[in-house]
Amino acid sequence: MPLSKLQGVKLPASADFHVHLRDGDMMDLVTPTIREGGVNTVFVMPNLVPPVTTVDRALDYKKRLQAIEPNVNFLMSLYLHETITPETIIEAKKRGITGVKSYPAGVTTNSSAGVVDYAAFYPVFAEMERQDMILNLHGEVPSQGDVTVLSAEERFLPTLKQLHEKFPKLRIILEHCTTAAAVEAVKECGPTVAGTSKSVPTLNFPLVPRSYLTTLDVVTAHHLSIIIDSWAGDPFCFCKPVAKTPADRDALLRAAASGNPKFFFGSDSAPHPAASKRGGEKIAAGVFTQPYTTQLVVDAFEQACQNGVLKEEDITPKIIEGFMSTFGRAFYGLESEQKEFITLEKKDEKVVNILKSDKVDVVPFRRDQQTWSVTWSA
Ligand code: DOR
Ligand code: ZN
Repeated sequence: MPLSKLQGVKLPASADFHVHLRDGDMMDLVTPTIREGGVNTVFVMPNLVPPVTTVDRALDYKKRLQAIEPNVNFLMSLYLHETITPETIIEAKKRGITGVKSYPAGVTTNSSAGVVDYAAFYPVFAEMERQDMILNLHGEVPSQGDVTVLSAEERFLPTLKQLHEKFPKLRIILEHCTTAAAVEAVKECGPTVAGTSKSVPTLNFPLVPRSYLTTLDVVTAHHLSIIIDSWAGDPFCFCKPVAKTPADRDALLRAAASGNPKFFFGSDSAPHPAASKRGGEKIAAGVFTQPYTTQLVVDAFEQACQNGVLKEEDITPKIIEGFMSTFGRAFYGLESEQKEFITLEKKDEKVVNILKSDKVDVVPFRRDQQTWSVTWSA
């Protein structure tokens, strides 16, 4: 039984606050699929090779993305790196960079130049706090000793709390959270007051405060449906942080459907050429969802209603709108009124088997399976 009340529902365009669009041939292939997922605003990750560590490079990257898809608003980020100084942050703010992404060294794709010691960046965080720039955290510790991919996120949570305590006005996002423990940690952090006490009027929502501090951007599309067993048997479900237990997934579903503005959407769509997912040296971490972002979230909510994790009456258009559009836009201080709309429909659409150009290919999450359809409305 489809979530029938969503049939034909019109919603403001979605916003996706965590995307990997790569560069070169892969960028050319995946960037035009952003709007297919019902999305008109994206926050772009900087883990290119080499990583985007200067404002000039970030703005140059933005130009190339805009040339491919002028109808998407690209918000850019810098890669937290030893060459980034408080002066870089001042320049970044002036020239329109939105956030700084921190990758712990060695935990995921293109993270070898990442952070080893957070304390070394305290002067940078202090400047970010002054400039009201967002810190986007990949919240894992490296696997070593008794830490594995299963405990890596939970073991990071004390660092999140420490950063929050040390920089109480710094707006922090714990990206792609995958555990019930992280959901609780995010709820416990903030809100803070000074400097961020503005409120943003939003369509259909009276006032969403910008004063909440640490939020969980990426409840991703795929972590709302997969668990350990999914990636243990299928490299196309393997990503970092890895999906965890059914109880963790259900906590994410409940957070996403809760209407709490601390939780909003970021797909973490992470394309890799099909061959690098199918073996060789090491399987690349990343799940590609870009053309189906909104659709996959609605699929996951629908599945959760069927499994009794969520109740049908709780999945209202307004709940979806908050999670997919309003809350993230408010946190990032974007326009409050959407001028573009999408319509959801359950038809016979199936996720394509593979996306390819004559240069590169990528296999999407849940290939060949049925999904919702999204069309742009006037
Ligand atoms: O699975 C992932 N893939 N996690 C990340 O943090 C990075 C991403 C990528 O760039 O492929
Ligand atoms: Zn990512």
